Amino acid sequence: MNNAASVPYHIGIIMDGNGRWASERGLPRSMGHQKGAEVVRETVQTAADLGVKALTLFGFSEENWSRPGDEVSLLLRLAETYLKKELNALHKENVRFRVIGNKSKLPKSLQTIIDEAEQKTINNDRFFLNLALSYSGKWDIVQAVKRIVAEGVDPESVTEEMVSQHLSLSDVPDPDLLIRTSGEQRISNFLLWQAAYSELYFCDAMWPDFNKHELTLAIECYQHRHRRFGKI
Ligand code: IPE
Ligand code: IPE
Ligand code: MG
Repeated sequence: MNNAASVPYHIGIIMDGNGRWASERGLPRSMGHQKGAEVVRETVQTAADLGVKALTLFGFSEENWSRPGDEVSLLLRLAETYLKKELNALHKENVRFRVIGNKSKLPKSLQTIIDEAEQKTINNDRFFLNLALSYSGKWDIVQAVKRIVAEGVDPESVTEEMVSQHLSLSDVPDPDLLIRTSGEQRISNFLLWQAAYSELYFCDAMWPDFNKHELTLAIECYQHRHRRFGKI
């Protein structure tokens, strides 16, 4: 990797392909999700080592509630286990942890550990880890609009900045790079507004196979992009 070229400040990752990873091996989908959860820990470490400052991981979408109940329960349980296991280490590493999404729909036990993790790490600033759970980009925009309306704002004074400030991650620069694993090439309702000018990178690796090499390739590709933002 060219360390002199700019490393993305904020990377978003759509962690896709757990089920296919498992099916390809004749394993139940649950095994793919378990392996996928392990990869999260390594990815946070690697991203921080490579000089990335913020990582937003899509762990469970609003639409994923439509999956079979046992798969939904497993995914949410894995998120809870991850947090319980990693909270102290994240805090020691000076990582600020946050969940974005409709937290009120999550199981109470998960909400409790999320609150604890967010409170404990609120003043940390070496690295920003955001986990999107029960999240969708459209939900995010709707909740922002609801809050703006509730503030009694005059419609004529609504600005892009105002909307941005009411969205999730309003205090983190928009993602420079958006990665999706598993070969699918779509956004699937991830950070819609915030990804307006993100560079998109799709890789064939299934999420459980994602590793330092894959992340380095994505960053190297990003470093060769020419971000124009509408200019010439
Ligand atoms: C990603 O893997 C995990 C979530 C979306 C929650 P999938 O479960 O979507 O795996 P595939 O896409 O079916 O292989
Ligand atoms: C997107 O993956 C959501 C997450 C990675 C959490 P999906 O597997 O749910 O997306 P689609 O259904 O293939 O678009
Ligand atoms: Mg999928």
